[in-house]
Amino acid sequence: MSQKKKSALADGAHFIRQWVENPRLIGAVSPSGPALAKRMASFVELDRPGVIVELGPGTGPVTQALVARGVPRERLVLVEYEPRFCVMLGERYPGVKVVQGDAYGLKKTLTGNIEGPVAAVVSSLPLLVRPERDRVELLHQAFELMGDDGLFIQFTYGLTKSPMPLHARGVSGSYVGKGSAPILLNIPPARVWRYRKAGHGGKPSA
Ligand SMILES: C[S@@+](CC[C@H](N)C(=O)[O-])C[C@H]1O[C@@H](n2cnc3c(N)ncnc32)[C@H](O)[C@@H]1O
Repeated sequence: MSQKKKSALADGAHFIRQWVENPRLIGAVSPSGPALAKRMASFVELDRPGVIVELGPGTGPVTQALVARGVPRERLVLVEYEPRFCVMLGERYPGVKVVQGDAYGLKKTLTGNIEGPVAAVVSSLPLLVRPERDRVELLHQAFELMGDDGLFIQFTYGLTKSPMPLHARGVSGSYVGKGSAPILLNIPPARVWRYRKAGHGGKPSA
C-alpha cells in the first residue's frame, strides 16, 4: 500500500474517532476528498492581499489543497476547535499558523493572531448544526475582517439549499451566495458555496 493511501486511512480513522466523541462538532464521518478540497481552494483569489483564514481544517485536506494551489504557508491561518487536530496540523504544516479556538467568535479568536487584512475565509464548519443567527453572525464577523470585497467559501453536503441564509440582512449589509455544481466525486457528493456582500461582486436577486 502506498504511503499516501496509508496516511489517508490513518486520517480517516482519526477523524472517525473524533466524530464518535463529538458528532455535532465534527459534522462528518470522514475527511473531505481531494476533489472537494481542490474545488474549495480553486475559488480563493490569490491576488487579494492578506491572510487566508481556514475554519474547521480537521486533519487538513483543504489546507493541503490550498498549499497545492500556491497559497504561501505564511498566508494561512487555521482556526480549529479540536485540540488534537491542532497538534496534528501544526506537525503537518510547519509555517502555517494554527489557532485553537471557536470560529463562531471569529474576531475574538483571531485577535492577536493575525496582522493586516483577511483576503478570504474558507470554511468546512458543519454550519447546519448551528442556529441561523450564529451562522449570520459568523458572516458578519468574517466580512468585518475581510472588508466589503471579501469572499466566504463554504462546502455543504446538502445539494439544494445554501447553508447560509441567502440575502441575510444584518448590521453590515446583505449577502448573496452562489453554489457550485455538485462535486460528485466526493463521498457524499457536496457543493461549494461562495458568499459575497451584495453590490460587491454578488448580485442580489429577488
Ligand atoms: C466537517 S469537519 C471538516 C474537516 C476538514 N476541513 C475536511 O474537509 O475534512 C468540521 C471541522 O470543523 C471543526 N469545528 C467545528 N466547530 C468548530 C468551531 N466552532 N470552531 C472551530 N472549529 C470547529 C471540527 O473540529 C472539524 O475539524
